Amino acid sequence: MFYGAGMSLSQTHARIEPATDHAIALAGDMLRHGQLVAFPTETVYGLGADATDDRAVAAIYAAKGRPSFNPLIVHVADLDDCAALVRLDDRARQVMTRFWPGPLTLVLPRADNSPVSLLASAGLDTLAIRMPDHPVARAVIRAAGRPVAAPSANRSGAVSPTLAEHVAESLGDRVGLIVDGGPCRVGVESTVLDLSTPRPTLLRPGGVTAEQLEQALGEPLACPHQDPQAPKSPGMLASHYAPGLPVRLDAVSAAAGEALLGFGAMDATLNLSPAGDLEEAAANLFAFLRRLDDSRFTGIAVAPIPETGLGAAINDRLRRAASPRS
Ligand code: TXA
Ligand code: MG
Repeated sequence: MFYGAGMSLSQTHARIEPATDHAIALAGDMLRHGQLVAFPTETVYGLGADATDDRAVAAIYAAKGRPSFNPLIVHVADLDDCAALVRLDDRARQVMTRFWPGPLTLVLPRADNSPVSLLASAGLDTLAIRMPDHPVARAVIRAAGRPVAAPSANRSGAVSPTLAEHVAESLGDRVGLIVDGGPCRVGVESTVLDLSTPRPTLLRPGGVTAEQLEQALGEPLACPHQDPQAPKSPGMLASHYAPGLPVRLDAVSAAAGEALLGFGAMDATLNLSPAGDLEEAAANLFAFLRRLDDSRFTGIAVAPIPETGLGAAINDRLRRAASPRS
């Protein structure tokens, strides 16, 4: 793999292993010994650590350069693993049965005596938990034999990884092992649904749509990210998922020097989905942003994306990519 000038040699030694039984056993071993392992999920690659080990969790924040007030998602392999970690009610059981394994994260009250590190939830009395729909992710968690805290496997604020190579480029030797499971099917992160509050609250749009959740729950979701007054998910910083180049939204054409990221039938530098398919667009989003984030261009212009279905999650990430950098 080629690294441009300015990257130190020490960043060139990420170990990428195909997801064989051997690699999965090694990943489990490393996690049990407090080391960081990146692995594929159906949404994006995660940077995993033993969620019950304070020092391992601290190593995630250090490797990502992430503000420590931003809590992490705890990943489990089986429904039975949840009861010791969080307090479940009927509403939680209902959506877990319907959408797990899958791209839905639930924020629930911590169980009394929950073994999960307080650092993983950044000191909150709630915990974000999810069961990923990727056989490699669940095999790695089972091999570790404990819940695995895992944010997206990129440096904080950067575009999330949907290929093992993206992880290596972003984290280098800050991660001990990258288990390679090929490209991520969904391509945008999980939906974060807060069920610790009386009204179910959508903290982050994602792979499961708000429409699907409202239908399953039989009630409308509260949406704090559309209401600037309401409290937000601690991780919902405005500038996030940001490429190096400026990003301009709702573009009908590229200005001189700009790359055009298209959607639907149009001429573009890269097209998220010429057929106008939102699932295809979500799966391509982060990889295409990375490919256009290149010094051949002066900026990235992005065609309008409909706000329906997965479009809400795509537009959420694009608005963050376009918002002023702090
Ligand atoms: O698809 C995904 O969710 C990926 C894969 C690896 O599973 N993970 C991921 O994690 O996107 P991360 O750390 O990049 O995003 C976690 C989100 C943040 O917005 C964070 O603020 C929110 O979940 N979150 C975590 N714990 C929370 C809590 N207790 N209360 C409210 N929000 C929480
Ligand atoms: Mg992230």
